[in-house]
Amino acid sequence: MIFETLAKTGHEEVVFCHNPDAGLKAIIAIHNTVLGPALGGTRMWPYATEQDAVDDVLRLSRGMTYKAAVSGLNLGGGKAVIIGDPNKDKSEALFRAFGRFVNSLNGRYITAEDVGIDVNDMEYVFRETEFVTGVHQVHGGSGDPSPFTAYGTVQGLMAALNVKFGNEDVGRYSYAVQGVGHVGIEFVKLLREKGAKVFVTDINKDAVQRAVDEYGCEAVGLDEIYDVDCDVYSPTALGGTVNASTLPRLKCKIICGAANNQLANDEIGVEVEKRGILYAPDYAVNAGGLMNVSLEIDGYNRERAMRMMRTIYYNLGRIFEISKREGIPTFRAADRMAEERITSIGKLKLPHLGSARPQFMGRKG
Ligand SMILES: NC(=O)c1ccc[n+]([C@@H]2O[C@H](COP(=O)([O-])OP(=O)(O)OC[C@H]3O[C@@H](n4cnc5c(N)ncnc54)[C@H](O)[C@@H]3O)[C@@H](O)[C@H]2O)c1
Repeated sequence: MIFETLAKTGHEEVVFCHNPDAGLKAIIAIHNTVLGPALGGTRMWPYATEQDAVDDVLRLSRGMTYKAAVSGLNLGGGKAVIIGDPNKDKSEALFRAFGRFVNSLNGRYITAEDVGIDVNDMEYVFRETEFVTGVHQVHGGSGDPSPFTAYGTVQGLMAALNVKFGNEDVGRYSYAVQGVGHVGIEFVKLLREKGAKVFVTDINKDAVQRAVDEYGCEAVGLDEIYDVDCDVYSPTALGGTVNASTLPRLKCKIICGAANNQLANDEIGVEVEKRGILYAPDYAVNAGGLMNVSLEIDGYNRERAMRMMRTIYYNLGRIFEISKREGIPTFRAADRMAEERITSIGKLKLPHLGSARPQFMGRKG
């Protein structure tokens, strides 16, 4: 059934990587390379079934195509998963074996960190392939992308405030931030620097305490976060938190956070709109991390990265404009903007414009 699935999802290539000596079982999914090489992180997770791993890599890689396209990057969408427990199954051999598979794709896929993988694991991948980003600063990399993701989220937030309230004064509003991990803590720091009222929750009590002690946030219970009387709900932990049971409880006017796949399904996205809540589409808002690692391809430069983050503000503005003009929910407007860019840029490559060197390099022998 795999080709039937790929026909539906639109993937170009899926590679199953197996090295029993190194204990490697991984899948690399390349969704779409019309705009450029497929860039997306590698996730290590103890999937209950192989089907779960396939489903995850297909969903995540497709999401990367849309994120890169809507963000104006010359990148396609791809992602990899390694089946295994990040707390028990990591080894040099595993990551080097994986790196060799990445290398075999000759730059069609470029990897980075995702859930379960850190910069030290990437060092091993880097020994076997150049097609890796998110490596340590000592190798010319850009390190942890989370602060950039948080900064980019604030840019998206400002665009949303502008549409909803007619001003971008982040500090005037109140926020319910769900998840104060790598991105969340940086996000609340930026909000508090502007003087905003910030409510936080997290399953990790230490993380909550840090947000309270260091940044003066107010802690609320895990489930209470949906009932907080606030202007903005910011999902910054898990996906699917805007769903049929939580939506009726939300009192916010805007949903804007860094988590991936915030809407449980498309129907919920339509319902959000009907309730007069402005949804800032997740993959457009949280693209700061991808933008940052993408700059490693031509040589990383922090100043360029910060300028690039600002484009998130304008991208969101365009999405809100399309949504208003076409009378469609913002999540559909974002999809439309991404698909139109892939189609129009893809067509540029269609006519053959000749080249100084003959293109056909095969059949030499
Ligand atoms: N790190 C990045 O640069 C980046 C880029 C794009 C998108 N994202 C997305 O942003 C989100 C956060 O990423 P991160 O890197 O900060 O991850 P993280 O693991 O550092 O932080 C997630 C936090 O959420 C908390 N959490 C988990 N379940 C929770 C629950 N039910 N209720 C409340 N808190 C809960 C965790 O304890 C943790 O502190 C994820 O959805 C991720 O996919 C991250």
